[in-house]
Amino acid sequence: MARRKIIIDTDPGQDDAVAILLALASPAEIEVLGITAVAGNVPLALTQKNARIVCELAGRRDIAVFAGCDAPLKRRLVTAEHVHGKTGLDGPVLPDPTMPLADTHGVDFIVETLRTEAPGTVTLCPLGPLTNIATALERAPDIGPRIAEIVLMGGAYFEVGNITPAAEFNIYVDPEAAEIVFRSGVKLTVMPLDVTHKALTTRPRVEAFRNLGTDPGRVVAEWTDFFERFDEAKYGQDGAPLHDPCVIAYLLRPDLFSGRNINVEIETGSDLTRGMSVADWWRVTDRAPNATFMGDVDADGFFALLTERVARL
Ligand code: BDR
Ligand code: CA
Repeated sequence: MARRKIIIDTDPGQDDAVAILLALASPAEIEVLGITAVAGNVPLALTQKNARIVCELAGRRDIAVFAGCDAPLKRRLVTAEHVHGKTGLDGPVLPDPTMPLADTHGVDFIVETLRTEAPGTVTLCPLGPLTNIATALERAPDIGPRIAEIVLMGGAYFEVGNITPAAEFNIYVDPEAAEIVFRSGVKLTVMPLDVTHKALTTRPRVEAFRNLGTDPGRVVAEWTDFFERFDEAKYGQDGAPLHDPCVIAYLLRPDLFSGRNINVEIETGSDLTRGMSVADWWRVTDRAPNATFMGDVDADGFFALLTERVARL
């Protein structure tokens, strides 16, 4: 498999943190050019700090972490402390990072990187609201055709919503940004709730992380223990969805996922259904396909991959 250059755009978040660990644990397949933080699960001051905490946990102080946008394009920021805790990374106690935050704004880093690297070689991996990515595309339209692919976590069709009855959190927080990305013409692969709600942190899967006997293994188990409380109570099942690592797992093992190339539009006008991803799963319109929208995952294969990679850290 050719080594893929990626930029991770993220709002950690315990599940974002596990996604970052998975990427950093896979240097043979993935080169992380940088991590851009965005406001989402918690405000930007915490997401950029959390991204550095995770890099240090992985022993990768060399990764450049950039702060991006601190608010959605046109809306007040909605956060998710009710899921992720006050810090966004509640659970285990981790030391404050000592590696510095990069000076450059996250959006400038995205634009400069895409202009510098060979066209079609950089994949963007958004794990939070799409504010940084949309801002980059608006500010520098020349970068669109240079992006190899955007593989993102967001949206839902069969599962409909998690932050409202109609919308998934990442799209809900900044629907105008999502609309720009979904209309950009860039190759899009989407990991919606329909996939991530099958990637459940059941007891045996969490214990497999804990039993690795390493710091990263213990921390992943304690993170999942923390955010499980909320989702288990909400959905009444064993384990919580581990959303964001599906994006990185797709880069490593696309065969674990299946979906359809369909049209997906974002609702920005209605208060009731703000941020709904209107996915034409059954192809009942003649709107042109703009995304590969995933619908299923081999959850055992996904957790086996994740455990094997976290063990390498
Ligand atoms: C998404 O929202 C966040 O809370 C998670 O980190 C994930 O990116 C799931 O809806
Ligand atoms: Ca996230």
